[in-house]
Amino acid sequence: MRERWARRLAWITCSLVLVFTAAFAATYNAGTATIAAEPMLPVPPAAAPGDAERVARGREVYASLDCATCHSIAGEGSPRSPLDGVGSRMERPEIRAWTLGEDSVAEDLSPRALRSKRGYRELDGDDVDALVSYLASLTD
Ligand code: HEC
Repeated sequence: MRERWARRLAWITCSLVLVFTAAFAATYNAGTATIAAEPMLPVPPAAAPGDAERVARGREVYASLDCATCHSIAGEGSPRSPLDGVGSRMERPEIRAWTLGEDSVAEDLSPRALRSKRGYRELDGDDVDALVSYLASLTD
């Protein structure tokens, strides 16, 4: 008789543990579902996260290339064509056109400059974007 009660009690305890576990899991998962959905919200362009990283990456790309043989930034490089404040003079597409020697600017470049610039078309697209972000950040 006692053994039967003990067995019953064990069953009740197990069932209760299961019910509480399920209830806790349901509550907890409902919470995480809300958190997971947040990054899907549109991010306003002005506060785009990662801008600072892209500019930093663009600075590295700039330094790894030979831009400074013809250009200078903050007095570093060739004084022939300073890029200081280029972000105030030009919009991104124009900066990009000059960097890559696109047709729209080809007439204003020497054959040597054009050759160098067209060589940058080999770069990874993300690196070009980062490079343009860096130059666009050079404002007066
Ligand atoms: C062989 C020389 C040469 C190299 C190398 C070169 N450029 Fe230029 N770049 C020029 C010349 C020449 C111009 C024409 C405008 C001028 O004289 O300021 C120009 C213009 C530009 C402009 C427009 C600036 C303005 O104020 O009119 C940008 C932006 C630019 N280059 C970016 C770059 C970047 C970024 C690199 C490296 C990835 C690079 N250039 C490499 C020669 C060069």
